[in-house]
Amino acid sequence: MFPPAAASLPLAGKCPAAPGDPIGSAKNRGEEGSGVVSVVKTDAYSKTARLYDPLIGPLIMPVRREICRLALGRNLHSILDICCGTGRQSMMLQNLGFRVTGLDLSPAMLRVAQRKAGKSIPFVRGDAARLPFADDSFDAAVISFALHEKEVSLCNGILREAKRVVRQPVRLIVADFLVPLGLTARAVGRWVRLVERGAGKEHYASFLAFMKRGGLTAVLLQQDLRVLREERLFFDNVAVVLAGH
Ligand SMILES: C[S@@+](CC[C@H](N)C(=O)[O-])C[C@H]1O[C@@H](n2cnc3c(N)ncnc32)[C@H](O)[C@@H]1O
Repeated sequence: MFPPAAASLPLAGKCPAAPGDPIGSAKNRGEEGSGVVSVVKTDAYSKTARLYDPLIGPLIMPVRREICRLALGRNLHSILDICCGTGRQSMMLQNLGFRVTGLDLSPAMLRVAQRKAGKSIPFVRGDAARLPFADDSFDAAVISFALHEKEVSLCNGILREAKRVVRQPVRLIVADFLVPLGLTARAVGRWVRLVERGAGKEHYASFLAFMKRGGLTAVLLQQDLRVLREERLFFDNVAVVLAGH
């Protein structure tokens, strides 16, 4: 949600990870000349991965609960948690009985995730815009607080890939920022903006572009994803959406 002010992630080359690949395997490290090109030279979360859960976790717990609530009772079994970070959401879903796979690009975030979850959840290192999964591999995908921090083409690429790997009828559960309307929403929105600004120049630029596009619901519509259910939190600054088509 509020990532660090750190280097950007160059997203070059093929996605190295395959489902179940151990994190940090030679393949995932993507050594030069190995034929598997590195997707990341710097880990934007290397310094803050350990702080993410203690600092951000309690704040976004209502969002995590809402994501779980939206997933329940829909005959979903397998869920891909895209940009899973430290895996908190993946664990909550797993505890409810879903078969969860987590994917993220940051080795540091994934190390935290794997340490907390043990072997119960496969965490895969890979690029969300080039998912290392076949078409129709999952019943649903979750994308939580990841889209707003990505530049437009990456954001769109992630949604396209999410649709590809999810079986029909496509079900995506997405949490992210809305454009605040109304007095209270805008007051809270100013705080959100401040925090996003503190997350670094590139992050903030992506956040502004995301908001300029109209926030979460507009971005989903631009990718032909209909909003089937929507719950708003933080005085209408955040939506947790069940999207599909
Ligand atoms: C703000 S965190 C959100 C983490 C988690 N979804 C949550 O709700 O706590 C964004 C995550 O996106 C990951 N990320 C950034 N670019 C990515 C990419 N191209 N592919 C996969 N993950 C990426 C980062 O490593 C980070 O863990």
